[in-house]
Amino acid sequence: MESALDPHTAKALLEWQIELGATEAIGDAPVNRYEVPDKAEKPAARAAAPGAPAPAVAAPPEADPVAEARAAAAGAQTLAALRDALAAFEHCDLRRGARNLVFADGNAAARVMIIGEAPGRDEDREGRPFVGRAGQLLDRMLDAIGMARDAADAEKSVYITNVLPWRPPQNRDPKPEEIAMMVPFVQRHVDLVAPEIVVLMGNISCQAGLGRRGITRLRGKWTESYGRPALPMFHPAFLLRNPHAKREAWADLLEVQARLRGTA
Ligand code: URA
Repeated sequence: MESALDPHTAKALLEWQIELGATEAIGDAPVNRYEVPDKAEKPAARAAAPGAPAPAVAAPPEADPVAEARAAAAGAQTLAALRDALAAFEHCDLRRGARNLVFADGNAAARVMIIGEAPGRDEDREGRPFVGRAGQLLDRMLDAIGMARDAADAEKSVYITNVLPWRPPQNRDPKPEEIAMMVPFVQRHVDLVAPEIVVLMGNISCQAGLGRRGITRLRGKWTESYGRPALPMFHPAFLLRNPHAKREAWADLLEVQARLRGTA
């Protein structure tokens, strides 16, 4: 059948798919994903003689993704091993839609560890956290208190990661079960970096690290998360949409600075 699309529309559709990350052709034949597959006949049922009692078939044990995440994370003795453990973790479906695993950036000897939410499009492309517009704002915020992720001096550097290492489709909020299976990895990540301070950027990070949301009320108040002193802050993406909130973010940055100087 001849296509009714004019070349400009076809090009725009193609660009839109690329924008969504559909950049690889994986098969020549179309797949109908709405087709309900035939239920395969169980071999045991086929073999049973008429009237014979059905043999007991042991159901395969249900995998518990959180328990498996705990075991995988606990086995990692270094950051490189933790990254490998995440890469090998099969239970989070987000990995299948992502281009890259986004692990961390910055100096692992830093006194401050920033935990964001999840990679966006730019981070997914580059495999580094906070490199898009929100990341650029984060860099400017850090610069304002004399800190940077690439500072060689551990005193002035920060270490940055996210709750989720894979980009959710269309940047949707991660589901509670996706957050739950990542928390053991984040906990191990914090244990291995052993920062003096953790900064929880945004609601998803607070959900993972504190078990609750409500960043407007949580921000600016010291609490404990992952066994460390922690300060919830507005996410830079929120600040881009709500520039009036930069005043509070500035106050929170000064809090971090004062804590590091021992004057808070
Ligand atoms: N937002 C986040 O929370 N993390 C990133 O890496 C980028 C945007």
